[in-house]
Amino acid sequence: MKSIFLLLVALVMGISFAGAAIAADGKTTFTNICAACHGQKGEGSPIGPALKGNEFVKTSDIAAIKNVILKGRSGKDRKHPNFPADMPAQALSDADAEAVANYEKNDLQK
Ligand code: HEC
Repeated sequence: MKSIFLLLVALVMGISFAGAAIAADGKTTFTNICAACHGQKGEGSPIGPALKGNEFVKTSDIAAIKNVILKGRSGKDRKHPNFPADMPAQALSDADAEAVANYEKNDLQK
């Protein structure tokens, strides 16, 4: 009986870990990776522009925002040349990039 219980616990934990690996939620990704440059609440920092109230984020669709996240922005494409470095391309899965783009466009703007 005890071993069946342990097996069930292992199974449930395995499933929840697998879920976490498939797609992190957008807020977690933002806090862990993007906030270092864009600020915890998207307020910006000396090395990244504010994303809260940001025109590009507000007026672009998810695909365009995702594109900046996955490819970064450098050279003549830059819109904020006063910041010391480029927006680096982020090594995220497509699903994670989509989740963080959605977070930026919705909850982060509140
Ligand atoms: C190392 C610092 C850094 C990190 C980390 C970073 N960014 Fe950026 N990001 C920048 C800079 C600098 C720019 C401005 C680039 C430019 O001049 O257009 C930028 C621009 C952007 C823009 C376009 C803003 C606009 O006004 O056009 C978006 C959207 C964005 N970042 C999202 C993210 C997301 C989401 C993450 C995390 C997955 C992230 N960034 C991680 C530095 C960073």
